[in-house]
Order: sequence, then structure tokens, then C-alpha cells
Amino acid sequence: MKQINKIAVLGGGGRTGNYVIAQLLNQGYSIKLLLRNPSTFQLSSPSISILQGDALDDKVTRSLVEDCQAVVSTLGQRKDEPLVAAQATINVLKAMTECGIQRYILVAGLNVDTPFDKKSPATRTASEWMKTNFPAIHEDRQKAYSVLSSSNVNWTLIRVPFIDFAAMAGKTIVSLEDCPGNKISASDIATFVVRQLRDDTYFKKSPFISNV
Ligand SMILES: NC(=O)c1ccc[n+]([C@@H]2O[C@H](COP(=O)([O-])OP(=O)(O)OC[C@H]3O[C@@H](n4cnc5c(N)ncnc54)[C@H](OP(=O)(O)O)[C@@H]3O)[C@@H](O)[C@H]2O)c1
Repeated sequence: MKQINKIAVLGGGGRTGNYVIAQLLNQGYSIKLLLRNPSTFQLSSPSISILQGDALDDKVTRSLVEDCQAVVSTLGQRKDEPLVAAQATINVLKAMTECGIQRYILVAGLNVDTPFDKKSPATRTASEWMKTNFPAIHEDRQKAYSVLSSSNVNWTLIRVPFIDFAAMAGKTIVSLEDCPGNKISASDIATFVVRQLRDDTYFKKSPFISNV
């Protein structure tokens, strides 16, 4: 695999994003972080450079990724804001292609469907809840998956259930067909995300991860 030293991060100021940033720093990566409001970001490190801007802006996205070797996104939809998942994915993939970057790792909910799924009744119920209550957000995520599927980059879409931000790290179970449990710690998501930077097991795949 190509040597990866510098990571472009979208959503790094969010709750899961904070854990991902901490893990990346722990493992010695340099980080280029896209933030809409840099003044609210607490962490400071010589390994972090910050770019102010919006993931919906393709020029900003291009500036973000251009000197990086991989992209990580924990972007989440904010209430009453324009849909972000599909357009950010389109922007990132375009910028990655222009800059010759191969690795893209994203986090999404378990509601995203793929042709390889064998969702259990519990996972189907949770997915249906999302589709019924947040249809536009679900459709946007599904569109992001569709855009990824037809791209040439080595993407991994990590699907997660309810995120427990207070929980300690535990054992992570992975499945390509169904969500193995109903929650996961943010710490374990971050560990799994960062591990993907040196692992090709889930290239062009959408693993579900959860704690037991
Ligand atoms: N929380 C859960 O239980 C749960 C469950 C399943 C899946 N997920 C998924 O897991 C991921 C992380 O969730 P989370 O709860 O940690 O997210 P979060 O705390 O809501 O953080 C979302 C991040 O996305 C950023 N963002 C949103 N729109 C943006 C835009 N247009 N341009 C730039 N940045 C933008 C936000 O920045 P601002 O601070 O500027 O708004 C924030 O940093 C998301 O994909 C979410 O859908 C979450």
C-alpha cells in the first residue's frame, strides 16, 4: 500500500471526529482538518493544520485534500441545514481523483443499504425507523453510497449503530452483512477508522461494526 502520512479530515470537530483526531495524533499522523468554525475547536497540536470552510464547497474540498494521502470523514447532518453526505462525497471523490489520492474512509449509520446485506429483523427495524423519520437524510446517505460504489478510489464506508460517547473501548465485531449489535463506543469507531489506513481488507466495502 502507498505510504500514508497526512490525512484530510472532514467532521473532525464533531463528537466521533474528536476521537478520530486523537487516535490519528496518537499514531503519528499529520492532519489537515476542515472546520466551519475553527474557534470552537479545542485541540491544538503541531501535527494539525486547519482549513476553514464548508464541505459543500468543492474548491475548499480540493484545497483540503491536495497535499494529503488519504481522506477520513465523520461528517454528520446538522438539523435544518442543506443535505451534506452525497454532495460532500461527490466533492471529495472529484478532488481525490484530481490529486491522485486513493484512500477514503467514511462513517455512516446502519440504515444505509447495500446489495450485499442480510439485515436481521432488528437491523431492518432500526433502518426503517431512520427511513420513516428522516427520509431525506436517508436518501442522501444512500446516494452517497451509490456515488462511492461507482468510483475508482479505495473507499470504505463504515456503518455503525447508536454511538455511545461515554463508553470505554471494548471488543469490536465486524460484519459485511448485518449489524452485529445495537451500539458502539466512539473510541472503538476511531480505532477501526484509523486501522483502515494500513489495511486493505475493506477496500470498496461497507462493514458494519459494533460492540458485543
Ligand atoms: N451519533 C450517533 O449515535 C450516530 C449513530 C449512527 C451513525 N452516526 C454517524 O456517525 C457520524 C458521526 O456522528 P457524530 O454524532 O459524531 O457527528 P456530529 O457530532 O453531529 O458531528 C458532525 C460533524 O460534521 C460537521 N459538518 C456537518 N455539515 C458540515 C458541512 N457542510 N461542512 C463541514 N462540516 C460539516 C459538523 O461541523 P459543525 O460543528 O460545523 O456543525 C460536525 O463536526 C455521522 O456520519 C453520523 O451520521 C451517528
